[in-house]
Amino acid sequence: MERKRVKVAISKGRILKEVCGHLSKSGYPNNIAKSATRELIFNIKNLQILACKPIDVPKYVELGAADCGIVGSDCITETNCDVYEPISLPVGKCKMVLATLKTKRLILKPGMNIKIGTKYPRIAKNFFLKHKINPEIVYLNGSVELAPLTGLAEAIVDITETGSTIKENNLKIIDIIMEINAKVIINKTSYRTLKDEIELLTSSLLKKIKI
Ligand code: PRP
Repeated sequence: MERKRVKVAISKGRILKEVCGHLSKSGYPNNIAKSATRELIFNIKNLQILACKPIDVPKYVELGAADCGIVGSDCITETNCDVYEPISLPVGKCKMVLATLKTKRLILKPGMNIKIGTKYPRIAKNFFLKHKINPEIVYLNGSVELAPLTGLAEAIVDITETGSTIKENNLKIIDIIMEINAKVIINKTSYRTLKDEIELLTSSLLKKIKI
């Protein structure tokens, strides 16, 4: 039986590589994981894979440009998009942390003033609001660790995987804000019209990923 086409938005980078590696083991012939192509759309069997910037994946899915997506829970929380997020995948594991200079004594106190550099303004704000602190947020697009080193901000809210960037830039973790892993997210209309196809994709992925 001919299966309906499913458009899948996947975070470019570590998650795309890992997921495509698992897909090829599940009988979806592809060499995306290996190739250094600049193409952004790949057709594999009944899947159309869209290689998206991580933070854009939930938007593609919410607005129906993709039927489903595979993206880190950091981007799902940050964008707060209206999508289903039924399945966690044990890939893309990392942590969202509050970090500052190794030499700095930082104790969070209600009502204090603090300037935070981050790519994740919503997550940062919500974390500080729980501590009854209204932070000044300096939105950054990358190399966030530079902010405390240059005096642009006192601390950062950012992801860490291996810990190398924090260590090599003489920073330290003050608090872990959330544990992160990749999740499958699904557009609310596609969930009804493509339920079987999406389930087939996720179950074959889960079978290959679970150890
Ligand atoms: C991410 C993150 C940290 C780094 C952490 O940046 O923002 O800078 O990875 O990884 P580590 O704990 O394994 O060292 P990314 O590589 O996505 O680049 P960016 O700085 O341009 O955002």
